[in-house]
Parts: sequence; C-alpha cells; structure tokens
Amino acid sequence: MITFLHQLESNCSLAVAPGAIAIMRDLTYLVASILFILGIKRLASPRTARAGNGLAALGMLLAIIATLAGAGSSALIWAFSAMGLGAIVGVFLAVRVQMTQMPQMVALFNGFGGIASAIVAAAEWIKITSFEGPRDQSALALVGIASLIGCATLTGSIVAAGKLHGSISGKPIPIPAGLFVNIALVAVAVALIVALPVTGGALWALILVILIASALGVTLTIPIGGADMPVMVSLLNSYSGLAASAAGFLIFNKALIVAGAIVGASGLILTAIMCKAMNRSLANVLFAGVGTADSSGTAGTTAEDRIVKRADPDDVAIMLEASQRVIIAPGYGLAVAQAQHAVRELADALTKRGVNVAYAIHPVAGRMPGHMNVLLAEADVPYDELLDLDQANPEFDRTDAVLVIGANDVVNPAARTDTASPIYGMPILDVDKARTVFVLKRSLGAGYAGVQNELFFADNTLMVFGDAKKTITAITAALAEL
Ligand code: TAP
Repeated sequence: MITFLHQLESNCSLAVAPGAIAIMRDLTYLVASILFILGIKRLASPRTARAGNGLAALGMLLAIIATLAGAGSSALIWAFSAMGLGAIVGVFLAVRVQMTQMPQMVALFNGFGGIASAIVAAAEWIKITSFEGPRDQSALALVGIASLIGCATLTGSIVAAGKLHGSISGKPIPIPAGLFVNIALVAVAVALIVALPVTGGALWALILVILIASALGVTLTIPIGGADMPVMVSLLNSYSGLAASAAGFLIFNKALIVAGAIVGASGLILTAIMCKAMNRSLANVLFAGVGTADSSGTAGTTAEDRIVKRADPDDVAIMLEASQRVIIAPGYGLAVAQAQHAVRELADALTKRGVNVAYAIHPVAGRMPGHMNVLLAEADVPYDELLDLDQANPEFDRTDAVLVIGANDVVNPAARTDTASPIYGMPILDVDKARTVFVLKRSLGAGYAGVQNELFFADNTLMVFGDAKKTITAITAALAEL
C-alpha cells in the first residue's frame, strides 16, 4: 500500500497528487478509527475480545501505513528500524511474562506510551525552535502539555509497576503535605507551559516541565497502596491517551488524536467503573491510602475466639455430590493459590455426576479488572458458566452449595448492613443466601479492605481452612472415592 501511495504521488500531476494522497490518508484514518471503536466494543465480552483485539490491531496497522505513505526513504528506514526493535522487545515480553505479572506489564506499557508522546513533543520542539521566523505559539504550548502528561505517565507507571511487582513496597507511602505538593507541582508546570510560547520555546522551560512532570508521576503514585494500584494504572492509561492526543494535535496526525482520545476516555470510564464497584470515590482511592501490600499471609491476624463451623475436604465432597446446583465464587485467593486448573477439574468432576455448576464473578474480585475471568479462561472454563453479579445474585437462594474460594470482601454481608464498615454500600455476591456456604481460605484473616467477615460465623457457613489449591485437589480426590 505504501508503494501504491508512493506511485500515486509520483504519477499524479503536482496540483492533484498532494490532495489525493491527503484524502486517501484521511479516509484510511477514518477506517482505522472505526476499527479502534469496534475493537474496544468487542473487548466487552470474553467471547469476542480476541477478535476485538485483532480489529484494533488492524486499525493500527492501517494508520501506520497511511502515516508512512509519502515519507522519504531515510524516514522509512528510521521508522522500520524502530518498529522492528519495538516488535522484538514486545514479542519477547509477551512470551516471557506470566499471567500473574500482567498488571505490571500493562502499567509499563502505559509508561512507554507516555514517553513516546513526550519524545514526539521533544522532536517537534527541535523542529519549531530551529525555524528562524516567528514560532508557532500554540504548538509550543502543546509541546509543554504532551511533555507534562507523557513524563508524569512514565514515572507514575514505573512506580506502579514496581509496586505491583513487589520491587517497591506495596504499602501506601504517604508524602508529607502530599496534596499541597502535588497542587504546587501542577501549578509550576502550568506556569512553565505558559512560559514556553512566551519565551519562543526556551530550553530551560522545557527541561523544567520534564523534571517537574517526572517528579509529579512519583508523588501521585507512591502514596497509593499496592492493592489500589489497578485503579491508578487505569488512570495512568487514560493519561497516556491524553498525552498521545496532545502529540497528535502537535504533528497534525488525526489517527493519533482519535486513538489517544479513545484511550483517554476508556481509561477514565474503566477507572470510574472500578471505583463504583468498590463503592469508593476516586479521591478516596488516590488519597486515603487504603490497603496494605496484599491480603496474603494474614493467617490468624484477625482470628477471634468466636466459634466457626469447620469442614474437611471429605465432608465437602459428600455435600457437593448430593447437590443439584453449585456456584463457585472465586476471589483474590484463587489467584494467590493459582487454583484455577484445580477448580476446573473439580467442576468437571461434579458436572459428570450431574451437578449443575456455575461461577459467580464479582467485578472487583481479585486485584485487576477481569482478574477472575482471565484466570478461569486460562483453565478453559466455558464462558457461559460465568455469571456476573446481577445474574448470580438471584440464583443463590435456589443454590444448594456455594464454594467461596479465596474471596472475602466481595462476599462480606457487612457491605449490605453495617453502615460503619468501610465497604458499606459495595454491591456483593449474596452467597449467604445459599443453603450451604463453604469458605476455602487459610485463616479467619481479613481481605483487602481489612474488615472482619460475618459470613464466616453464619449458621449455614462451613470454613475449610488451607491453601485453596490443596483443598480443592483434596475435594476432587475425595469425590473420586465416593
Ligand atoms: P480479598 O478481600 O482481598 O480476600 C482475599 C482472601 O484470599 C483473603 O482473605 C485471604 O485469606 C485469601 N487467600 C489468600 N491466599 C490464599 C490461598 N493461597 N488460599 C486460599 N485463600 C487465600 O479478595 P476479594 O474478595 O477478591 O476482594 C477483592 C478486593 O480487592 C476488594 O476489596 C476490592 O475492592 C479490592 N480491589 C480490587 C480491584 C480489582 S480491579 N479487582 C482493584 C483494587 C482493589 P487468608 O489469608 O485467610 O487465606
């Protein structure tokens, strides 16, 4: 297609060719934008997500081809070298990274998006300031905006990835007078962005914007607890889109403007969905410092002298075999225990015995959007067995047994009744309405929100203590013996 556009350009008369090329380029950008939107729409369901990803990638390929059409050979060599290098790094990372490391990988990708926009801005700054005549003032302001958002996204994403990976403490690290510091940094950065066009693009102003933006990324992200980090990553994703859009305006690239705006808007929508599902405001997520490094290893920390009923895997197997309808409610502990394959094997064994099995998926179960869906898809659990919150809740009172596997906050009835609880108002899976509830976890320890769970003490609840994977494997083995 590039050769075709080149030929078209050289064959056409000078008066017509640039216009024809521009129209074809714009039309291709339009098709690419439509593909981006269709792709995102298809990401809404696991069934169509793979195709959606393919459509969006095709859109990006078209946009790249249209952008490179008409470029000189030295520009093409640079572009293809950069793309080749990026492709090698991308394929290497995609093959090496484990599913559980996906959140930090996404965080890093956002950071790369941010720095790419900042580099485009720097290149444009060189172009603008090497021009002898009057300099484009709005372009200089855009250089500042793209550098601010891009650099803040880079450093914020590096901190987020570090926290998710465990190389930086996942605990909230409060900054003294943090809100004031952040407001001051933004105010100085805005003043410098204004100074850029006023000074005709002074280098010192650009360097200061870059330094302040880099500091801002750190000060915004470091106070946030590791468990709240997925919300911050989604917000950083939105920032990377805004930076790309600003870069798009700077170089008059319509596809970049549209793609950046889509990323910016979808990141913001995802952030809002996550906050709503946790029943928390964005300000509370960003500034309250809720959540410790993770909820694992809390064995016994909140165990009280209260009596709970216990069951062992043999008891669970007998009860499950006698059930007609079983719902599995997974949570963060499923990911910690990596029990997804064991769960699938248990579900298969039950289904073979005529038991109807389904999975109830809470929108913020785990630590990233779609965490449970990803884990269960990895174990080839059929999509039609997954029920979302609204589908699952009417089912529980006609369910014989629920297996709560490593879930805690998302099944805590305090969210419905205890107005003093930090999770009050969060929609939960009403597992307590089932005839029998088995809770598989290692202790009576609290979950991410750090609150006790009355479900453990309910009359119809039986606690099955132990690592989820070991317990489920033992239940499946006991079932085979029956
Ligand atoms: P949590 O409330 O965090 O509870 C997870 C439970 O898993 C813990 O109580 C822990 O108990 C248990 N566990 C850990 N390792 C285990 C293992 N090896 N075997 C068995 N159990 C194990 O999880 P949830 O119910 O999924 O709720 C998610 C929480 O994260 C919500 O509060 C949500 O708001 C928050 N959050 C979610 C997201 C997204 S997007 N998903 C983003 C930010 C925050 P033991 O230690 O006793 O085993």
